[in-house]
Amino acid sequence: MLNNAGLVQLAKFGIPIVIVIWILGYLTSEREAYTTIVKTRFKSEKEKFIADFLDNEVGSEFNGAGIAHACAQQTWTPGLILSCVPVDGGYAKVKNGHLNCIRFAMEMGAELVLPRIVKRDQKNVAVTRPKNGKGPYVGELLEYLFDYEHLNATLSLHCPQMKLYKSMDDLWDVPQVSPPKKISLSLIETHITNGTVVQDMAKLSDQIKTYINKTAPPETRRMPIRFELDATNHAFPVDYDAPEFANSFGRLLRPRSDARALAAAALYNLSKRFGLVSLPSRNIQNNGFAGVHLRTEADAVGYPNFDTQVGALLRFARDVEARLLFLATGTTPREIKAFTERAQAANLTAITKKDLLDDEDAPLLQAMTWDQRALVDYEIMLRAGSFAGPVESGFSWNLAVTRSTVPGAAEAAAAPVSGLVQYRDAYSAVMGSLDRGYTMKATIWP
Ligand SMILES: *[C@@H]1O[C@H](CO)[C@@H](O)[C@H](O)[C@H]1NC(C)=O
Ligand SMILES: *[C@@H]1O[C@H](CO)[C@@H](O)[C@H](O)[C@H]1NC(C)=O
Ligand SMILES: *[C@@H]1O[C@H](CO)[C@@H](O)[C@H](O)[C@H]1NC(C)=O
Ligand SMILES: *[C@@H]1O[C@H](CO)[C@@H](O)[C@H](O)[C@H]1NC(C)=O
Ligand SMILES: *[C@@H]1O[C@H](CO)[C@@H](O)[C@H](O)[C@H]1NC(C)=O
Repeated sequence: MLNNAGLVQLAKFGIPIVIVIWILGYLTSEREAYTTIVKTRFKSEKEKFIADFLDNEVGSEFNGAGIAHACAQQTWTPGLILSCVPVDGGYAKVKNGHLNCIRFAMEMGAELVLPRIVKRDQKNVAVTRPKNGKGPYVGELLEYLFDYEHLNATLSLHCPQMKLYKSMDDLWDVPQVSPPKKISLSLIETHITNGTVVQDMAKLSDQIKTYINKTAPPETRRMPIRFELDATNHAFPVDYDAPEFANSFGRLLRPRSDARALAAAALYNLSKRFGLVSLPSRNIQNNGFAGVHLRTEADAVGYPNFDTQVGALLRFARDVEARLLFLATGTTPREIKAFTERAQAANLTAITKKDLLDDEDAPLLQAMTWDQRALVDYEIMLRAGSFAGPVESGFSWNLAVTRSTVPGAAEAAAAPVSGLVQYRDAYSAVMGSLDRGYTMKATIWP
């Protein structure tokens, strides 16, 4: 039994504790209630759709354990800094280049200056590396195409060993790292196969460190020191790493949020207009439309011509019994019109992102650069019931490979498609017959 003094003590300490617990509980449930209300009542149906879309990336759930494990295994050298030459091109090429850069820094055990992007000539998209006076390309910050906050937060959380610099500006007070030493796959004398792929991944880390020790002997090295990696694309075989790593590493880089939100707005419009049942989710359920990728823009070199591509895409639409086509392309209005007419002749409705944005959203798309607009296409295409694109295109491979991580991709039955097909699962078809397709598929992270 408690005596009076005991009761006073209990009241003194117990009551405040009860109050604190009660307040905490109240706040938590209030917060949940608040979120639910915001999502269901105060937000318009469209806003809720966009919020759900942004919360649900297509594909398997991100899992940082593989990245954390790889980083924990590595020997890290403080003051050893890697930067990478800015990457030119569109979403797929830049994404692959940046992931190669990050992966290389992991093998090197180095701090990383986040890679930049060469912005193409906005007047002539075929010029991916516009003249830049005499100096080297400085490029745009990574957020030009990607969600920087997401990359920084995710990489910092799962690979805290890798110190990140947003740009060289963060090193303005360390002039000795200003001139970099060169490093590349050929300088470290690693063996390359199939054009660009590192043959023996198990040796790579040692080869990098041997080269660094040779070029900057540890006894005389002045720290910090910076190495700059030459352009490196399609070098790392995705399957070398465990699935846990391989399925999540590419998710470090996702399209910038404004492009994803515009894609969501367009998809909302599409589903309203055509009565599709499509709540945004990680899975693929928009069986109401097929996404087709037409790659005939001015910068497309080595692709089949317009007629050949259109023929293959329309045959695909017929094979999967689509009625509604979302056309992803950055080509001219004239070619888009020609495509739409040919689709119509085949009893198909073809629609582009521009057709799907209302007066409020259209100016936002208009204000974007050509490569940023492609991100809107990419995010819509991820969610198409079925998808087809050309084998020469990294954009198409990214879509196919990412969609292949959605449950059911390998298991569900895939309608047979006519013509040359290099990759097919229940959700995607990559059309054509190039050998290069093999290397792309082998080196593109989902
Ligand atoms: C990057 O993330 C880390 C860890 O969350 C944080 O401390 C840092 O401020 C972030 N940097 C920027 C520039 O957002
Ligand atoms: C090189 O490509 C061939 C197919 O073209 C493939 O069988 C082989 O596994 C590839 N090698 C590597 C190391 O990726
Ligand atoms: C490079 O030098 C460091 C410091 O002397 C040493 O610990 C490491 O084993 C060397 N690595 C290689 C691959 O030579
Ligand atoms: C076009 O599709 C509609 C149904 O979506 C069908 O009723 C019609 O017969 C088709 N026409 C042709 C020419 O295939
Ligand atoms: C869809 O976009 C069109 C413009 O292309 C607009 O007129 C229409 O109101 C939009 N519908 C919805 C439901 O957003």
